[in-house]
Amino acid sequence: MPTQPKIGIILGTGLGNLVTELTDKTEIAYESIPNFPVSTVEGHSGKLIVGKLGGVDVLAMQGRFHFYEGYDMKQVTFPVRVMKALGVEYLLVSNAAGGMNPDFEIGDLMIIRDHINLFPEHPLRGRNDPQMGPRFPDMSEAYSRDLIAKAKEIAREHRIRVVEGVYVGTSGPTFETPAEYRYFRIIGGDAVGMSTVPEVIVANHAGIRVFGISIITDLGVEGKIVEVSHEEVQEIGNRAQPLMTLIMKELVKRL
Ligand code: HPA
Repeated sequence: MPTQPKIGIILGTGLGNLVTELTDKTEIAYESIPNFPVSTVEGHSGKLIVGKLGGVDVLAMQGRFHFYEGYDMKQVTFPVRVMKALGVEYLLVSNAAGGMNPDFEIGDLMIIRDHINLFPEHPLRGRNDPQMGPRFPDMSEAYSRDLIAKAKEIAREHRIRVVEGVYVGTSGPTFETPAEYRYFRIIGGDAVGMSTVPEVIVANHAGIRVFGISIITDLGVEGKIVEVSHEEVQEIGNRAQPLMTLIMKELVKRL
């Protein structure tokens, strides 16, 4: 690696275009990294990219590993361990999500304030290596309040509509039934998706500060629920991603 980035970036479904903003790129195919899993899902091309975003050194993962693909939690979160070992201190994550908050609109950017972990397996289950982090990690500020404040400031300055909320992480690969969307809303969720939570847990375990953003690609709101497809999720994500990229690009300059 030509540089030692302090910022790691994990991009979600159809949200890899931030990479086109990177300069001075060095691309490392996942296949060429020992023990790294390899991505399979449509819309993800797997490589680690070292480069500059708005002049700031970053380490971006283009394509992430989802639990629903069959990877276990150790594999899903291995890249975060690699980032930590390489010196990463901040993790920026993005994803596509279904909105349950009735005030949300399709295409909205939701800054993740907190999450609810509903995955059936925990990435930290098993023997703990105290050199990696504590046995019982604190999760009272899983998403950095400071980074949230900075991102909201950036959104205000650029007149970008952002909402804020709680991300519910589920295993997928099914989208939700109307009853499930209602349930996730009742327990305190604003959006639901099939990623992010495992990586954020491991980042917190490793002492990495996290910022997360969801693009609301469909609505799980009573009366507004329609059929969802992966193609649609990608298309809406694709349309909203320039604004998300702008926020991330400005954010890395303020870290
Ligand atoms: N549910 C789960 N994951 C998703 C959704 C959804 O509605 N939209 C995009 N990813």
